[in-house]
Amino acid sequence: MSTQRTILVTSALPYANGSIHLGHMVEHIQTDVWVRFQKMRGHKCYYVCADDTHGTPVMLAAQKAGLTPEALIDRVHDEHLADFTGFHIGYDNYYSTHSPENRAFIEQIYHALKANGKIIARTIEQLYDPEKQMFLPDRFVKGECPECGAKDQYGDNCEACGTTYNPTDLKNPYSAISGATPVLKESEHFFFRLGECEAFLREWTSGSETLADGCLKSRLQPEALNKMKEWIDGGLQDWDISRDAPYFGFEIPDAPGKYFYVWLDAPIGYMASFKNLCERIGEDFDAFFRAESTAEMYHFIGKDILYFHALFWPATLHYAGLRTPTAVFAHGFLTVDGQKMSKSRGTFITARSYLDEGLNPEWMRYYIAAKLNDRIEDIDLNLQDFIARVNSDLIGKYINIAARAAGFIHKRFAGSLKDVADSDLIAHLQAAADGIAADYEGREYGKALRSIMSLADAVNEYVDANKPWELAKQDGQEAKLHQVCSELINAFKILSVYLAPVLPTTAAGVARFLNLPALTWANAKRSLGEHRINAYSHLMQRIEPAQVDKLIERNKQNIQAAPATLVESQAAGKPDYEPLSPECSFDDFTKVDLRVAQVLNCEKVEGSSKLLKFQVDLGFEQRTIFSGIAASYPEPEKLIGRKVIVVANFAPRKMAKFGMSEGMITSASGDGKLFLLDADNGAMPGMRVG
Ligand code: 2FM
Ligand code: ZN
Repeated sequence: MSTQRTILVTSALPYANGSIHLGHMVEHIQTDVWVRFQKMRGHKCYYVCADDTHGTPVMLAAQKAGLTPEALIDRVHDEHLADFTGFHIGYDNYYSTHSPENRAFIEQIYHALKANGKIIARTIEQLYDPEKQMFLPDRFVKGECPECGAKDQYGDNCEACGTTYNPTDLKNPYSAISGATPVLKESEHFFFRLGECEAFLREWTSGSETLADGCLKSRLQPEALNKMKEWIDGGLQDWDISRDAPYFGFEIPDAPGKYFYVWLDAPIGYMASFKNLCERIGEDFDAFFRAESTAEMYHFIGKDILYFHALFWPATLHYAGLRTPTAVFAHGFLTVDGQKMSKSRGTFITARSYLDEGLNPEWMRYYIAAKLNDRIEDIDLNLQDFIARVNSDLIGKYINIAARAAGFIHKRFAGSLKDVADSDLIAHLQAAADGIAADYEGREYGKALRSIMSLADAVNEYVDANKPWELAKQDGQEAKLHQVCSELINAFKILSVYLAPVLPTTAAGVARFLNLPALTWANAKRSLGEHRINAYSHLMQRIEPAQVDKLIERNKQNIQAAPATLVESQAAGKPDYEPLSPECSFDDFTKVDLRVAQVLNCEKVEGSSKLLKFQVDLGFEQRTIFSGIAASYPEPEKLIGRKVIVVANFAPRKMAKFGMSEGMITSASGDGKLFLLDADNGAMPGMRVG
């Protein structure tokens, strides 16, 4: 290693009111692999995280559980840390935003921002729950969508039609906490004047930094930078950073009853966690956070919180006189079998269930790492592919190399290796070290693992070409057997070094087996020489498909058994998405003749709880169509007069005893509900859709 780098790395802080699931694991595995790689390279690298403990949802979850917020967050902290540790996430510190360090930092930052003229007080009007006597965050106001009339929609957007709006736009609003009708009430809030930070943020988001080793690093990925440009071009609004009591958080100095908004203190929690670590280990905190710091700082986050990390956070740090992040690394979301994680399908897989079912966390680390790259793409956990890939790559290609050679070294050569420094096979494996390192550095883990597996393929071809089991039976082949098996053990060591950031426990087991201290990256280029190794004991088992089936079953059962205090936040309330159908050509599409139709009559069908009978006008003719949407439209007469979209060339079908259906009425479906499609004003019956 030429230059030692000094690096601080974070993963986003999980909320203290939800269980850790595989969605979180994608990010923490991505970060952990990167940190382990940096440490193996000999850099000084710290990895900190914490629970994100403040805000209304945590306060309400604690009330529901009959606990103080402090008791709830203590319990959840222990659960979260145990889950992450179970997946071998090696934080240097896992702390809490409800800590004295965080309070001290937020006060320091608030005073600095104020002194810099960046804080302003404004009176705003907000919905207030008169029963619960509290202001309602947008997600805690529900009502009818102002656009489509769908009932029980949240205060920020409609899940039926996708419109975004303000909570005050909802029709017949009610408090999701007490059910009371909210009233508008004035209150003074503090705002961070983000609108004034435009020039700084334009420069910051598009900038890059030169690292200690001379490399140039962009602060944002290209997709993230484009998104930020769009947001900045759209005009930066000042940011409301205060909330009124009752609120679980830090009270604002000199403003009784006003609290810092959770999203202001959450990223400051990165600093608090690091400060807490520095105090324990005697590290110089200020050297990392002063404005001129040369230490690197990276935040690994999900794409949904880019706004906070690439705009609010750098602006907060900069105008408080502190250093800004070196770069922000965003990743996409996790889908399972091509669909959004779903509790009813059992694919909302908690970390705890995975561990408790006895599945090896390194299987998941490997699979997720194999899917990751440096872009902001969603990644899919395909359960069949998970089983196949882990068994084929890790067991079939990698572990088996040691299993096939170690026995001979013990039985025939008393556990001693021959020096194989001049082996072509070993030279081939060693030559890949820098390329694989560059891929880890660039977060191209999928690429790194593909290279490693192609090296493993080369080793297995060497095994098949030399057949040690046959050499062992032949007279006079003792030296060759020793050479081949020693090469295989050396090759196994090199592959283990390359895989160590992803498989840390296996790598530790390999080091014990090879009678070596912990593997470092430099080990890849060192031959073992004449070296005595320990007896081999199996390092990893295959996945049995039944284990995955049981995991899914367990997560289906978890829906009923989930503790009341743990509410999943990531997937709440959004529909499950179906995978996209195979691509179709324009010709394929035009085979389906979609037309606008007007509903002339619509009624329930006697003897069917599912069907509605429509009489529709297609302009050129009238038709009768049966549609299975009765459950979603209990008052069919209300549909008379509206426009719908009909598949007009759909083959007529006989509907049991009810008669012929002469077409199909299209609708969107999700969450067990159907939603008819509409056409804008001006569209006439009979017009073609396409
Ligand atoms: O989106 C979330 O889950 C937040 N709890 C992340 C906070 S990250 C950081 F800013 F603290
Ligand atoms: Zn709507």
